[in-house]
Amino acid sequence: MKTLIFNGSPRKNGDSVSLINEVLKDLKGEKKIVNSYFDNISPCIDCRFCWKKRGCSIKDGMQEVYDYVEECDNILIVSPIYFVELTGTLLNVASRFQTYFCAGRFRNEKAVEKPKKGAVILVGGGHGNVEIPYGTAKTLLHHINTRDIHPLVLSHDTNNIHAVDDKKCMEGVKSVVNFFNGEWWEIKSKIKIIDNIEIRNQIENLYETTNNFNLAKWSLKIAVRILEKAGIDYCSITEISQGISINECWQSGTGSIRDVRDAAFKVHKLARETEDIKQKAALRTLGHAVATGHMKEHSLVASDYAIKTIELLYSGNIDKITEERKWQLSELEGMQGIWEEQTEKSKIYQR
Ligand SMILES: Cc1cc2nc3c(=O)[nH]c(=O)nc-3n(C[C@H](O)[C@H](O)[C@H](O)COP(=O)(O)O)c2cc1C
Repeated sequence: MKTLIFNGSPRKNGDSVSLINEVLKDLKGEKKIVNSYFDNISPCIDCRFCWKKRGCSIKDGMQEVYDYVEECDNILIVSPIYFVELTGTLLNVASRFQTYFCAGRFRNEKAVEKPKKGAVILVGGGHGNVEIPYGTAKTLLHHINTRDIHPLVLSHDTNNIHAVDDKKCMEGVKSVVNFFNGEWWEIKSKIKIIDNIEIRNQIENLYETTNNFNLAKWSLKIAVRILEKAGIDYCSITEISQGISINECWQSGTGSIRDVRDAAFKVHKLARETEDIKQKAALRTLGHAVATGHMKEHSLVASDYAIKTIELLYSGNIDKITEERKWQLSELEGMQGIWEEQTEKSKIYQR
């Protein structure tokens, strides 16, 4: 495994470098660091060489970086925020990615063959928003075929607290390392999430042999727990309380699949209208849980949306995600055998 790290800071013992050192402690494989202030990489001069040919007319340290970009598995951008952007020298280096942009635009070639995982770590004294530098960093990552990007890791109060003493930021750094090391990977379900793939696989195996009723019970439990975590008062919102009770009616044989589908539809409508992305993900969890009466696949998607909610609530903290997946798994294990105890009525209803 190879990781390419871009460091946009001039400070040799500054916040960016201290976080990079933390990454290096546990990151497996080979690593290459590009220091935008010290590696004598010139900015793009728009000579338009790359409109027709691969690579770049400027022969400097960037040639080695181009080779590494082709080979590497992970790309990490670490930068201080300067005037609400990445630092100027980092943008200079990144301007040499123009050759990748021109590959698709003018040369009709694929810019970079090998897909990569990416991450961005930003540090700032605390002024301005972070959307602009993060947006720039993501654009650069996309140009080099980085498809899966870890949620932003940020320390945005470095005037008062060193980034390495910022607990949330350090959790994010650990999560990036786990993500790059391949212990966590976005699952290719309907939604993009960072996950503990091992436990997710165990859940999926068990799900295959679990019936709709038990999956409905399981996914509703997941949803109620996640609504609480997302700060949604599920008892006082009609669409939510009805969704839960209609699914329970279906389980006990007093509600139809059509009722379940309509109720799930109302919860999804509520999710669409909700602006807060954490609460939106929590509501989607419930929407799928309610819809489990209709198709069992929804229960698995509900469990994925619960993990998405945890990812958003705890900035991609892998320990929290694992904790939630373990809980989901133990709950699903607990569901085994419940079917046999169900009433004759609900068995009839399954038909
Ligand atoms: C020229 C300059 C511009 C800066 N602009 C911002 C800014 O827009 N937002 C912010 O939060 N911090 C800003 N800062 C503060 C740095 O981002 C902060 O001190 C950071 O922790 C330095 O990181 P380093 O130690 O890795 O170099 C700026 C600092 C400098 C020198």
